Amino acid sequence: MQQNEIWGNETAKSYDTPGTGMFSPDVLEPAVERLAQLADGGRALEFAIGTGRVAVPLSERKVHVAGIEFSPAMVAELRTKVDEATIPVVIGDMATATVPGSYSLVYLVYNTISNLLTQEEQVACFRNAARHLSPGGRFVVELGVPELRKLPLGQQAVVWQTEAGYIGLDTYDTLRQQLVSHHVRFGEGGQARVFRSPHRYIWPAELDLMAQLAGFALESRHADWGGAPFTAESGSHVSVYRLAG
Ligand SMILES: C[S@@+](CC[C@H](N)C(=O)[O-])C[C@H]1O[C@@H](n2cnc3c(N)ncnc32)[C@H](O)[C@@H]1O
Repeated sequence: MQQNEIWGNETAKSYDTPGTGMFSPDVLEPAVERLAQLADGGRALEFAIGTGRVAVPLSERKVHVAGIEFSPAMVAELRTKVDEATIPVVIGDMATATVPGSYSLVYLVYNTISNLLTQEEQVACFRNAARHLSPGGRFVVELGVPELRKLPLGQQAVVWQTEAGYIGLDTYDTLRQQLVSHHVRFGEGGQARVFRSPHRYIWPAELDLMAQLAGFALESRHADWGGAPFTAESGSHVSVYRLAG
């Protein structure tokens, strides 16, 4: 499973779900509001900008946003909404690609740091964020907490959602710290469509160490964009890292 196969034309065309799921106002508005605050009047850079789910509304809030994105197909969808002058995007790998300019905020949302499949690439991604930030700048990461507590000995899969016509499940390789997310969609017949994506899952403490290696300190960690406390039961987190001023 190669990332360029996963994020090709078919995924790009069906990625946006305006008004629902990850595009629902309940999900998006608090994220955009918080990112606009954290940009603090400066410029923002989104790693793995995709079709602009977050970048477009953030740019509509008068924050200058640029992006790095690996998939030309995802950027083609973004281009149906905004032009290059409004949101410039460099096609490349967020662990290594560079964008002109200096930013007060770099952000990487929707679990996407886990799309980098090695620890080395994930550390390089933190270093790349630091490279783009001005002193005192922030790197914001939104990431799920690995659901290892739900995995009994001898079992390799966790089902995280079931509803009519849909099952979401993750299979784990705990030795290699990898998981594969499966989204299975089906109707009345015997056929199903499966979207699969591989990830390297990261415990928050390891993420903090990656940040430290790149010169960041943890400024805050919440369970969501609205500022709910992060607890042992939280399923994901929004972590804000800050470079020394
Ligand atoms: C789950 S989508 C998130 C897109 C967007 N940030 C959002 O919140 O809707 C993951 C995106 O990461 C991109 N991606 C995966 N690996 C990447 C990499 N190494 N460098 C840059 N983009 C990458 C994919 O092409 C895809 O657009």
